[in-house]
Amino acid sequence: MKFLIDHADMEQIKRIYAIYPVDGVTTNPSILAAGTKQPYEALREIRAFIGADADLHVQAVANTVAGICADADRIRAEVGEQTYIKVPATTVGLAAMKKLKKKGARITATAIYAPLQAFLAAKAGADFVAPYVNRMDNLGVNGIQMTKTMQDILDKNRLKTQILAASFKNSQQVLELCEYGIGAATIAPDVIDGLIRNDCVEQAVCAFVKDFESLCGKGVTMKDAH
Ligand code: E4P
Repeated sequence: MKFLIDHADMEQIKRIYAIYPVDGVTTNPSILAAGTKQPYEALREIRAFIGADADLHVQAVANTVAGICADADRIRAEVGEQTYIKVPATTVGLAAMKKLKKKGARITATAIYAPLQAFLAAKAGADFVAPYVNRMDNLGVNGIQMTKTMQDILDKNRLKTQILAASFKNSQQVLELCEYGIGAATIAPDVIDGLIRNDCVEQAVCAFVKDFESLCGKGVTMKDAH
C-alpha cells in the first residue's frame, strides 16, 4: 500500500518525510486554502522537495469539461506531466477524464462516496479512485466496507485502476484497508502520527535505557560501553 501525506504545509511535509516511509503528497482546494501561499507557489515547493518521481496529486477546480482540461494542462505544466490530476467523479468529471486520458494525463478520480462512481471512473480511465472513508462513515455508510467493495469490483472486472483511500480520521480505518491490500492511502499528518503512538512502546524503550544506565552510567550507550 502506498502511503501519502494529505497536506500542503511544507513544515509538516518535511517533518513527516523525515520520520515515515512516504510515497508522495495529495492536496485538494480546501487543503491549499488552509495554507498561506498561492496554489502554484505551494505546489512547486512540494514538487521540488518530494522529487520528480514521487506521487503528487493535485485537484482541478473548474466545473466544466473544458475548464477541467485547462486546469489539468496548467497543473501539468507547472508541477510536472507525471502529476496525478484529481477530478471529481461527477458526470462532468467523467467526461473530462475520458478526454484527459486521451491526452496521456494521469488521473485520480476523487470525491467518491459510492462503488458505482469508482467503477465508472475506472472505466473512464482513472489511474486511482479516491473513496472518502470517514466522510462516508459520517453519512451512516460504512466507509471501510464500501472501499472494500470498490476493490472487489475493480478486481472482478480486471480493471487496473487502484484505490487511493482518503479522508481518514483514525488508525483503525487505515489498518482495515492495509489488511485488505488496497493500492494507496492518503492521510493527514495528525492521523499519521497516531498510527504508531503508543505509551507502552515509550515505556518499554525508557525501561531498556534505564536498566542499561544502571549498569554503565547515565548517558552511556553501546558506543561508549566497556
Ligand atoms: C482526498 O482526495 C480528499 O481530498 C481528502 O482526503 C478529504 O479528507 P477530509 O475528509 O479529511 O477533508
